[in-house]
Amino acid sequence: MRRQPIFPSPRGPILRIDLEKPLTVMIAERHRTIAQSLSSLVRELGNAEVVAEVNTAAAALEIGQALAPDVAIIDLELSPNCSLVSLLSDTSPETRIVVLGDRDRGTPLGLVDALASGAVGAIYRDEMSLHDLVRAVRSSSPERPVVADEAAGVLLGSYVDALSEKRRRDHSIIRALAAAVEARDSGTGQHLHRVTDLALRCMTEIDEGLARNEEIHYGFTLHDVGKIGVPDDILNKPGPLSVDEWSVMRTHPQLGARIVEPIGFSGATMGIILHHHERWDGTGYPNGLKGVEIPLAARTFAVADAYDAMTSERPYRAGMTDDDAIRIIMDERGNAFDPDIVDVFLGLYL
Ligand SMILES: [Fe+2]
Repeated sequence: MRRQPIFPSPRGPILRIDLEKPLTVMIAERHRTIAQSLSSLVRELGNAEVVAEVNTAAAALEIGQALAPDVAIIDLELSPNCSLVSLLSDTSPETRIVVLGDRDRGTPLGLVDALASGAVGAIYRDEMSLHDLVRAVRSSSPERPVVADEAAGVLLGSYVDALSEKRRRDHSIIRALAAAVEARDSGTGQHLHRVTDLALRCMTEIDEGLARNEEIHYGFTLHDVGKIGVPDDILNKPGPLSVDEWSVMRTHPQLGARIVEPIGFSGATMGIILHHHERWDGTGYPNGLKGVEIPLAARTFAVADAYDAMTSERPYRAGMTDDDAIRIIMDERGNAFDPDIVDVFLGLYL
């Protein structure tokens, strides 16, 4: 029986982006008919060409290394234990590897392994995932891996085991997890990348040691991981939330902390996930911590998060101007936010 998707796939037009140089794509796929369909799709992208179509791992490796295509689309079955993905990503680091799994065969851990081995996309190959395939071919990177929405649900179901077994704190898995969250929270788009960058810039001004601490990076990256447990109709509601819906949304810090608990992160990481919605005046959530009771990194992140949320477009509203958002942050100096951190933030912007 076909597994029901946990998260609905976003529907939208297939991206057509004109690049100056044609994107070169290698397709490594056992099934000739699927390879042909993929080739047609790649041609449909516009300004992209299939430079090789192979059906064995050996040929994929040899030709992949020789041609160093921009993108290699690889049938997961051709890469047992991720051998092909690992070898190709080591020897041809410029090639973005997109792995296609077969949903009916149920290979969630294979997809997790592929991402940990150097793939930047892990998606299911069926027509429902075309949008993800196009996204993976066009815009994936090690920083922004593309995980099919349906695969994201399965990945999440298995990632805790994967992490607690042998890949604790593996950067690739953490990035994949963060990408899974972002794939679901369609309103946030590039939020994660922007907010992490901004929070790190503030953190550098405040405490350079903390800004370099990777536990802090994990916390920034995974701050909203708990949103994975917030129902879709609340998370992506095209309008303001009701009181009841807000009470569900407000569970995401605790939910996030519970989700990542088995990984054994430090208090610094957990403090950001759990306390990034606390307020300086003690009226935030989940614990109503006040002032310096709130971890420094969480206080710093809160300012960056609020600024990015206010200036971002949402499906139901335009983003605020920088000036308006900065004015609100100034108004909240000593209310929502640590006054010293607001001063640091303003120093970056004014
Ligand atoms: Fe949050």
